[in-house]
Amino acid sequence: MNYQGKRWRTIWRNLDDAAGSIGVIDQRLLPHEFKTLTLRTMGDCAEAIRNMTVRGAPLIGATAAYGICFALRDDPGDAGFAAAYRVLHKTRPTAINLKWALDQMQAAVGQLPPAKRLEAAYARAAELCDEDVAVCEAIGRNGLALFREIVAKKPAGSRLNILTHCNAGWLACVDWGTALAPIFMAHDTGLPIHVWVDETRPRNQGASLTAWELNRHGIPHTVVVDNAGGHLMQHGLVDLCIVGTDRTTAQGDVCNKIGTYLKALAAKDNQVPFYVALPSSTIDWTIRDGLKEIPIEERSPTEVTHLRGKTADGSLVEIQVTPDGSPAGNYGFDVTPARLVTALITEKGCCAASAEGLARLFHREV
Ligand code: MRU
Repeated sequence: MNYQGKRWRTIWRNLDDAAGSIGVIDQRLLPHEFKTLTLRTMGDCAEAIRNMTVRGAPLIGATAAYGICFALRDDPGDAGFAAAYRVLHKTRPTAINLKWALDQMQAAVGQLPPAKRLEAAYARAAELCDEDVAVCEAIGRNGLALFREIVAKKPAGSRLNILTHCNAGWLACVDWGTALAPIFMAHDTGLPIHVWVDETRPRNQGASLTAWELNRHGIPHTVVVDNAGGHLMQHGLVDLCIVGTDRTTAQGDVCNKIGTYLKALAAKDNQVPFYVALPSSTIDWTIRDGLKEIPIEERSPTEVTHLRGKTADGSLVEIQVTPDGSPAGNYGFDVTPARLVTALITEKGCCAASAEGLARLFHREV
């Protein structure tokens, strides 16, 4: 995406650095500061994923892929690879893209002699990034076709009101995003759209990152508190919901940022279509029941008890919003059962959120 006249991806190799470092955008500072960081070691990558310098399922996977490159630079043997795999895999438990990307790296270098692994690893990591961009672009095109169908049923000239949760934009991927890709394309092709942006407590990925992306792109949007969605839908102010997912099961259950399920419930009650946009790397074909089988990340309670923001004089501060001593729980994700999902939008096309729908689209046995 463009930012300040330059085309950006969220992750890149520093080609002028013989040691092979990578650059990322420090997403903890947005929307108030745009800063890049250099990651030089496997430990740097693991920490950047853990502390959410980088976040979003596809970007976590891409960062982990480069983490493997750094590990192989230090120890190209099987033990080095296995140790790095373990460390990186543990950084965040819910998004399956992380494991998917590590497995892709394993497949690319596992059979090679150690001396050949590093070059192959860098090549595969770069390829994974390029593939993610192409996949997200295809998701955008497929989502845009759905948007057009809904627009065609509305009175001529009226705008399409879209609600989204968390950040499934280009910051969450290498470029484009998943749920936001069709939104960017709709706007670019002149479709009149407006986006309701859930703030997405506790880390406010909607209020800080999605709003920032839409703002930079000139897309009309309004940030709302997480609990506003039901009200908006009851009053006919939402034409469709679209979100991303960190893990999709073989029967079409989707696990996404905490609060997604409540939006899907409200959408069902108000006959608002609820779409989930995903790259196929987000599908965990090994599991069916999302509620029982997906590990839900629990993060630090301080993300709930404290808020970060900018004061009038421009300084960034953290404040406490809860009483001293009140404990807080911080569940990062929830599972939306397939029955609440109108359709899945993938790079291969759209399908029903069901075992049959996914199997047909991806040519697999049910
Ligand atoms: O905790 P985060 O910010 O990594 O969570 C991100 C999300 O929940 C996104 O919706 C999901 O990764 C899909 S992004 C393409």
